[in-house]
Amino acid sequence: MKVIESVQDMKKASQALRAEGKKIAFVPTMGYLHEGHLSLMKKGREAGDVLVVSIFVNPTQFGKGEDLERYPRDLEKDKRLCKGEGVDILFVPSAGEMYPENYQTYVDVEKVTKNLCGLSRPGHFRGVATVVAKLFNLVRPDYAIFGEKDFQQLVTIKRLVKDLNMDLDVIGMPIVREADGLAMSSRNSYLSQEERRAALNIYRALRAAKKLFEEGERSAGVLLNEAKRVIEIEPMVVLDYIKLVDVEMMEDMERVEDEALLATAVRVGETRLIDNIKLRKT
Ligand code: PAJ
Repeated sequence: MKVIESVQDMKKASQALRAEGKKIAFVPTMGYLHEGHLSLMKKGREAGDVLVVSIFVNPTQFGKGEDLERYPRDLEKDKRLCKGEGVDILFVPSAGEMYPENYQTYVDVEKVTKNLCGLSRPGHFRGVATVVAKLFNLVRPDYAIFGEKDFQQLVTIKRLVKDLNMDLDVIGMPIVREADGLAMSSRNSYLSQEERRAALNIYRALRAAKKLFEEGERSAGVLLNEAKRVIEIEPMVVLDYIKLVDVEMMEDMERVEDEALLATAVRVGETRLIDNIKLRKT
C-alpha cells in the first residue's frame, strides 16, 4: 500500500493509473475506521481495478464549537485496516495541503442541504461538498463509494456529481450496525458506557415507526410521534430533529405513500449522533 501525503503526488499517481487504463474506486473518510468504512472499501475493491482511500479530518465541514480538535484519530491502526482491505493508495493530506493560504473557493449544493442536518449544522454541507469536489479532482475516480449512514451527504454528493457533470458513479452502501443495532460511527468512541446503552434507543425509535408504517399507518405526524415517544423513554437521548423526508429532495412529507426516509439526529451527553431508516411499501 502506497501512502501519499501531497496533492501533487496524488495527482501524479492517479494520472499514471488512468494512463494504464485502470478503473479507480475511491472511498473518502475522516479516519478512525470501523466496519462501516471497511464495507465501502470492500465494495470499492469489487467495483474498480485500484482502490484509493483518503483520510482527512476536513476542517471546513465543522462548525464553531463542534468537535474538530477532538475528533478521534489513530492513523497507525487505520493503515493496518486499509492494508487488510487491499487498499492500493492511502491519501492522507494535511489541512495545509488541502487549504493553502488564500484558499477561497467553495461548492454549495443548494436545496438538498437545507433540511435535516443543514438546519442544525449551517455550512456543514458546503464544507463536505467542497472537500469531496477537491478529492474527486485529485483522485479522478471512476467510482466513489459513500454510506447511507450519512444519507443527506450521499444525496448531496450525487447532486454535485450530476450538476457539475463529473464523470464518475456514486455508489451508496447500507448502514453497518453493531450487533445491538447502534449504527457504527467514529463518534461512538466518545460515549460513556451509560451513554452507549442509552443510544440504543435511537434505532429502537426508528424501528418502532417503521413497524407502524408496515402496519399501514401513512400519516407522517403519527409515525413521527411514535418515534418521538420511544426516544423520550430515554432521558439521556436529546432530540435535535426527527423527520420524514422524500429520498431525493430531502423535503418534509406529510404522508408517506410509497417511500420515505426517516432521519434523526440526537445528542447523547456531548455527542451528536445521526441515524436513519427507509420506509418503503413492499
Ligand atoms: P466519515 O464520517 O469518516 O465517513 C466516511 C464514509 O463512511 C461516509 O460515506 C459515511 O457515510 C460512511 N459510513 C460511516 N459510518 C457508516 C456505517 N455505520 N455504515 C456504512 N457507512 C458508514 O462522511 C465523512 O467521513 C466525511 O463527511 C467525508 C465524506 C469524508 C468528507 O469529509
